[in-house]
Amino acid sequence: MSHELKNKPLGSLDEWEDDILSRYPEDERENFRDYENTQRESVKEFYRLNHENQTLDYARTQREKFAKLDKREMGIWEACEYLNNLVDDSDPDTDLSQIEHLLQTSEAIRADGHPRWMVLTGLLHDLGKTLCLWDEPQWGVVGDTFPLGCKFSDKIVFPEFFAKNPDNDNPELKTEYGIYSAHCGLDNVTMSWGHDEYMYLVVKDYMPEEALNIIRFHSCYPIHREGAYYHLMNEHDHKMFEWVKKFNPYDLYSKADNPPNVKELKPYYMELIDEFFPKTIKW
Ligand SMILES: [Fe+2]
Ligand SMILES: [Fe+2]
Repeated sequence: MSHELKNKPLGSLDEWEDDILSRYPEDERENFRDYENTQRESVKEFYRLNHENQTLDYARTQREKFAKLDKREMGIWEACEYLNNLVDDSDPDTDLSQIEHLLQTSEAIRADGHPRWMVLTGLLHDLGKTLCLWDEPQWGVVGDTFPLGCKFSDKIVFPEFFAKNPDNDNPELKTEYGIYSAHCGLDNVTMSWGHDEYMYLVVKDYMPEEALNIIRFHSCYPIHREGAYYHLMNEHDHKMFEWVKKFNPYDLYSKADNPPNVKELKPYYMELIDEFFPKTIKW
């Protein structure tokens, strides 16, 4: 396989999100579809790479590298515009731009009267995808996330692909608790590396705890949709996940026919950003 294909099996990052949407349709009655058989090959290949390469070692190394926040310095709105440079092979007629997805999510949250920090969380939640602009492989940017350092749950999509993950051969890492203890709390758990964990590192000094949990775990479908890994979570995690669950439908189901008007919305969001952030922050 060429280097290019190895790092980019997906034509666009949206292919993964579209796949989640078919796995968790808004209308449950659509669930009769045979999920694994209707799946695109590119998406399957993406999950294969993700599950084989996300090791405890990889996630720790990436976290350490990006926690330095020495990539660049920019404001939140600037980052939204910067992320829009992420042009891939998606269909421009049907796919939303990155900034449109962010605004659609935040606008749906605003329309339902949720707190201002949550509206802002809608705007921020995917900004960690800038990792893709710095040549990180797709499998290290998107995909469902999961804890590392203990047994991979069967509730993760395509669990069979973990057979070739090196951690799966390490007796210390393949038990139910692995390197952790019962209900140790997700604060102490290393998650698979991607845009969620990275964005959490970028904003952790600025947003309230509920927002940080949404940002850090919004792709953790094994926990917030499948109820896996409760043996690692403490009471506080469960409280925090109420917000992650509240947020998820806005992320998945807010795609409206009319894309939001970026120019018109900008003043409202500039003011909201100013409430929580300095002019620029480190990335
Ligand atoms: Fe995301
Ligand atoms: Fe999203």
